[in-house]
Amino acid sequence: METHDSRPRRTQVGIIGAGPAGLLLSQLLHQQGITSVVLENRSRERVETRQRAGLLEQNTVDLLREAGAAARLDRLGLVHDGVLLSYNGRRHRVALSELTSGSHVTIYAQPEVIKDLITRRLETGGTIFFEADATGIEGLETDSPTIHYSHEGETHALQCDFVAGCDGFHGISRQAAPAGFFKTYDKIYPYCWLGILARVAPSTDELIYAFHERGFALHSMRSSEISRLYVQCDPADTVEDWPDARIWEELHLRLGTANWTLQEGPILEKTITPMRSFVTEPMQYQRLFLAGDAAHIVPPTGGKGLNMAAADTKTLFDALRAYYQDADSTLLHNYSAACLRRVWRVQEFSNYMTEMLHQLPGKPAFDQHLQQSRFDLLTTCEAASRVVAENYVGIASQRASEGVAATISENLGLSC
Ligand code: APR
Ligand code: PHB
Repeated sequence: METHDSRPRRTQVGIIGAGPAGLLLSQLLHQQGITSVVLENRSRERVETRQRAGLLEQNTVDLLREAGAAARLDRLGLVHDGVLLSYNGRRHRVALSELTSGSHVTIYAQPEVIKDLITRRLETGGTIFFEADATGIEGLETDSPTIHYSHEGETHALQCDFVAGCDGFHGISRQAAPAGFFKTYDKIYPYCWLGILARVAPSTDELIYAFHERGFALHSMRSSEISRLYVQCDPADTVEDWPDARIWEELHLRLGTANWTLQEGPILEKTITPMRSFVTEPMQYQRLFLAGDAAHIVPPTGGKGLNMAAADTKTLFDALRAYYQDADSTLLHNYSAACLRRVWRVQEFSNYMTEMLHQLPGKPAFDQHLQQSRFDLLTTCEAASRVVAENYVGIASQRASEGVAATISENLGLSC
């Protein structure tokens, strides 16, 4: 039954999902006088506390600044000019800034990005319905599609010009196209990450990504008092299989190197993340535009999930602005192609990092030698390190979307 309340019945852009993609899009549109409504099926508290990777490329920081949501990020974000890769205890520093003419990454947790975006959106008069479950989209082939959703026990309909499907991997947007319209590509990795937050000062100034015979480990951080650490684990594992003592023991072994000690502290949270690569092609169906995890997933090894969502958002925002302000729909037509070049570049980099750094029991000795050789190349060939640096800070994916993509192997072939 439709209700007759004060909820908006119509908006220009109906946005499903209040993750980074949906919130950022809504705010950027608002600043150009374009209206939107955000529908989010979780509570505000839930979206503000979901733990996710916390690595921001400069493009993402710039976009958050453009949205007026970067005051805390500018104060609290940790700027990193380099990153450490470790192979069985042998470390190699990739000097990000030196190799990329001054680019860097910023460590700032995704839940903080979400809190900043929600605060900003609400203080500028935005409409976000939390615990509003989008159940279907119809009329995508018309000028006025409708999103159906339920909220506070009632069903509602929101008419719009366009629908932004920012509803993550498990959302409903992809299902709104006719069966078979979206082609999907995916790869599921035979390992997971167990992530912890620990109340202890980071034992390193820069992130450490470690390959070890016993499996991958990553030392990241949230602040001068909170460390974020990960260990590769089996997909069948649960957090109960990983008591605190086991986690620390593995972290010491996997991250360890001469003259360095990992400091331990109370573990505040443990979560297990599956590892998957996934791409939807195209990223548009008629008046539906997919952005962020709704369209693609990367394993977290390159720290790219949030940055890809932000980059899609920027592309979609520019296209919608051109449509509304200049009556030009060229960019809307090009949306999918523009995004997908970048998406595949980031997929390749995330896959490269993942496969270089993880261990598989029973892996053929040949593959193990290839893995070690990849690492050796990074330590001996500056051009190889530069390719990693450019991908890590986001320059390579920016170039890919500008049409000058170069694969890692092509670059390596040319420069070494
Ligand atoms: N109705 C309303 N909201 C929905 C529905 C639905 N039917 N289905 C999903 N959602 C919401 C989810 O609850 C979630 O809050 O859509 C939101 C999607 O947000 P994210 O999953 O954060 O996706 P995105 O904005 O694309 O950001 C990608 O987040 O998943 C991480 O690591 C990933 O950093 C990356 C980033
Ligand atoms: C994190 O800080 O959570 C993080 C950083 C880099 C990654 C993944 C996760 O590649």
